[in-house]
Formats: sequence, structure tokens, C-alpha cells
Amino acid sequence: MNKSTNITWHDASLTKEMRRKQSGHHSFVLWFTGLSGSGKSTVANAVAQELYNNKIKNYVLDGDNIRHGLNKDLGFSDEDRTENIRRIGEVSKLFVDAGQVVLTAFISPFQADRGLVRDLLEDGEFIEVYVKCPVDECEKRDPKGLYEKARKGLIRDFTGIDSPYEEPSNPELVIETNLSSVEGCVEQVIQFLQSRNYI
Ligand code: PPS
Repeated sequence: MNKSTNITWHDASLTKEMRRKQSGHHSFVLWFTGLSGSGKSTVANAVAQELYNNKIKNYVLDGDNIRHGLNKDLGFSDEDRTENIRRIGEVSKLFVDAGQVVLTAFISPFQADRGLVRDLLEDGEFIEVYVKCPVDECEKRDPKGLYEKARKGLIRDFTGIDSPYEEPSNPELVIETNLSSVEGCVEQVIQFLQSRNYI
């Protein structure tokens, strides 16, 4: 729902195509989704470094970081997660419009929310990367001690424990972080981008 009235859309004179041309590459979203501790941020940042090394302008939007600022008013109820992803979808679209590659690392547990972001973008601009890792492996890693807290009941609505994660049904890419190294996952992403002429 739009609460604003009396608003008018202004078309910019500089177009997305012009900005892409200036960047020297295509612009798109690499949307990493997966459980807490699955390796989303690690892989996204490593891919970002590789893109940077190849002079591809990019920016990482990360769940923990964005929740310190733009989305600090949101918690982890289903509704707040939906709003979190909606806002990130809109921000991602701005980056794509600005001619940049955006890498997002959000649990984004709901198929419908990820679908809305896909629909917000043009064909081929949304690349869903499922960072797959069994929940017991994520719990073993527990890099922030959050699974332990969730098991003790100190955190509620924790994804994979008492809040759902809906696996992507048709992602562009699946990386399995319990089977491949970080370098292997990065290579898989880069190869995908090269094979489809994104980079
Ligand atoms: S979501 O579901 O997409 O809105 O979540 P996201 O914005 O990616 O934030 C996930 C990070 O928040 C921390 N955290 C929690 N995660 C899941 N459930 C609960 N209840 C929770 N509380 C805090 C946690 O550090 C997540 O980061 P990652 O990198 O995924 O481990």
C-alpha cells in the first residue's frame, strides 16, 4: 500500500543503460539466501573481492549490517522479515539502476518475499543463489553463538529452530558450503556469471 498521495514520478535523463555503459559492465543482483551460519556473508564478500579485482563495481548489503541502520526498526517476526526483504529489494533495484552489481546476504526465509524482489527487477537482473548447508552443520559452526542461545530459549523466532526457512524451489545457483571450500563456491559463482555473459 502506498500512503503517499500527490506524488509524481520523475524520469531521470541518465538511463540505466547509460550508467551500465559507463561502468563497463552489466548490473544485476546476486541474492544469497540461506540459514544463519550457512556462509552467505563469507561467500558474498569473497565474490565481491573477486569482482572488485576485475574492476566490476559492486556493493554488499548484509543482514546484520543493514539491521544496524536502515532496518534498525525491524525485528524477526514474519512481518518484519518481509518488510526487511521488501526494503532491501527496493535498495537493490536502485543499485542496479545506478549500473552496479549488488550482492545481498540475507536469510530471506520466505519464497514469496524473494519472489517479490525477483518481480521488482527486470528479467535476468535477479540471480538467486541458495547457500545450502544442513541446519545441524550450521548449528555446529554457530559462529555467533546464536543457535546455542536459541536452543536455551534465550532467542525466540530463530530461523531453523522455531522460525521456518523455505528452500528456494528454482534458484539460478546452489552452492553447498558443507561440501565446497569458500574458494570453490566463489569459483562456482564466477563461472556461472561468465557462462551467462553477466561479466
Ligand atoms: S531475515 O530473516 O532475512 O530478515 O534476516 P537477516 O536480515 O538476514 O538477519 C539475520 C541475522 O540476524 C541475526 N539474528 C537472527 N537470525 C535469525 N533469526 C533470529 N531470530 C535472529 N536474531 C538475530 C543473525 O546474526 C543473522 O545473521 P546471519 O549472517 O544470517 O547469521
